[in-house]
Amino acid sequence: DPFIESFIDKEIERIRQIVGKDGEVVGAVSGGVDSTVAAKLMKEAIGDRFHAILVDNGVMRLNECTTVNSYLHSHLKINLRVVDASDKFLSRLKGVTDPEKKRKIIGNTFIEVFEEEAARIDKETRKSGRKSIEYLLQGTLYPDVIESVSFKGPSAVIKTHHNVGGLLQDMKLKLIEPLRELFKDEVRRLGKVLSLPDDLIYRHPFPGPGIAIRILGEVTPEQVAIARAADHIYIEEIKKAGLYREIAQAYAALLPVKAVGVMGDKRTYEQVIALRAVETTDFMTADWYDFPHTILKKISSRIINEVKGVNRVVYDISSKPPATIEWY
Ligand code: XMP
Repeated sequence: DPFIESFIDKEIERIRQIVGKDGEVVGAVSGGVDSTVAAKLMKEAIGDRFHAILVDNGVMRLNECTTVNSYLHSHLKINLRVVDASDKFLSRLKGVTDPEKKRKIIGNTFIEVFEEEAARIDKETRKSGRKSIEYLLQGTLYPDVIESVSFKGPSAVIKTHHNVGGLLQDMKLKLIEPLRELFKDEVRRLGKVLSLPDDLIYRHPFPGPGIAIRILGEVTPEQVAIARAADHIYIEEIKKAGLYREIAQAYAALLPVKAVGVMGDKRTYEQVIALRAVETTDFMTADWYDFPHTILKKISSRIINEVKGVNRVVYDISSKPPATIEWY
């Protein structure tokens, strides 16, 4: 892939020019392809002078934090700190059911936790005689740039989910955005050339507020456990069936209703899981994915049998528009 190879060489050189021989850079990673590719480029360019921070917000997928940590830290040897702030996030989410409020709480708490950690790293770095942190890495892509510029009309308030800007207001850091001219497919090609595993390169996008917006109603540790377990089974079965890459995004949502079920001669009242899977290239419009019924059957019976508190599974057959990809 000569275009991508030369892009990587040029970008690494450009980062070195900007940061200089002794500059320090901080950046958040999530385990997604964009932030991982960006972090890997930084690592190649400036080694341990790039400080990555992974914030555990308590609403990532099952075992996700551990998996991401072991991959980035142990495998890619990125200088990474994991901050477990799940209690902080979950306590602030207590009693909140409005999705936009959830987004705000998670966004603001994320900035707070990230800044605290960046300040701590900065202090340690200076103590050891190195320079202050001057730069912030962001894995912004070209469509994010466009969206944040054009996100001023009424559509801006449909859902507030842009990642650009926020962090900068409080920290006087200069931005480094190595991916800001690239589209997603180009970032994936970068990932390939940088030898990242396919599992990571083709990972479905995952929203910043995580499963908090896929739990309809209050986010409690119990609800997080149910949503995580169901989602894990769903994705596992999709992968087993070899359909993961055909689907652009899939997840399990936990609905805030109690459905009636029957167990022996007793009625039960338990929760409902809604499965969502869509095909799309740009995420602006999307079609619901037409699963073979045998696969839905298997997923449904596994979720109902294995996830305590769920007695009903439904499949979402709504396209975007008018439905959105996320329920919330
Ligand atoms: P919708 O639901 O608007 O989603 O059709 C389109 C894409 O955006 C993702 N999404 C989010 N991403 N924070 C994010 O980082 C958010 O709050 C958020 N809400 C939606 C969604 O997963 C889909 O890929």
